[in-house]
Amino acid sequence: MNLFWITLVFAVLYLVLYPGMGTWRGMLGWTQVGQYDKERSEAAAKVKPLYDKFAAMGIEQVAADPQGRAMGERIFLNNCAQCHGSDAGGSRGFPNLRDGDWLYGGDAKTIAETITGGRMGVMPPQAAALGEEGVKNVVAYVRMLSGLNADPLRAQQGKEKSASSARRATGPRARAIRRWARPNLTDSVWLYGSSEPRSRRR
Ligand code: HEC
Repeated sequence: MNLFWITLVFAVLYLVLYPGMGTWRGMLGWTQVGQYDKERSEAAAKVKPLYDKFAAMGIEQVAADPQGRAMGERIFLNNCAQCHGSDAGGSRGFPNLRDGDWLYGGDAKTIAETITGGRMGVMPPQAAALGEEGVKNVVAYVRMLSGLNADPLRAQQGKEKSASSARRATGPRARAIRRWARPNLTDSVWLYGSSEPRSRRR
């Protein structure tokens, strides 16, 4: 019987102190947002000395520190894994970060630049300039470069075609292109695939 009254008193007290009924804010002024902000700032204050320590170190020093690497891994899993994969192995359209093959560069400074400013690799569509036959020929040429099966006649014509469109890129356009990544087309690392329909895809 006592328990019954205790629960009733508890409920009334609770609803007076905390928000729970209609627009009543509760006498303690407690809010979910306030609680969240408080916990966040407590957590931030706790990790601040740790972040300060690593912020004062060079990238190579952080890389040599097991705790620094473990933190880096967590940050990677939270912010990068959705695109590059949890093992950083990449997938179609998202580069593999473990294979030593770099679009922009694998030294610490360049990677920091990539992460800070982002990268916007762009390949403008070529179909209008090349025509359907031209696209087929260049596909054959690019496949030949990597030692894949390709019609040699088409490959030869594709070679001439790509040399002439590379020559056309001069002035500001060429400078812009230089700032973008220029993926190596002669190795076996493909961001989008090396099969014929994939290389032609618009
Ligand atoms: C929304 C998807 C996405 C997220 C999130 C993302 N990346 Fe990337 N990342 C890409 C794409 C796409 C490229 C290729 C860009 C290009 O070709 O210009 C790239 C390129 C890179 C490169 C350049 C690779 C090279 O070969 O030079 C590095 C390094 C990199 N990302 C690291 C990271 C890290 C570290 C994070 C997390 C802090 C991250 N990325 C988050 C999609 C993503």
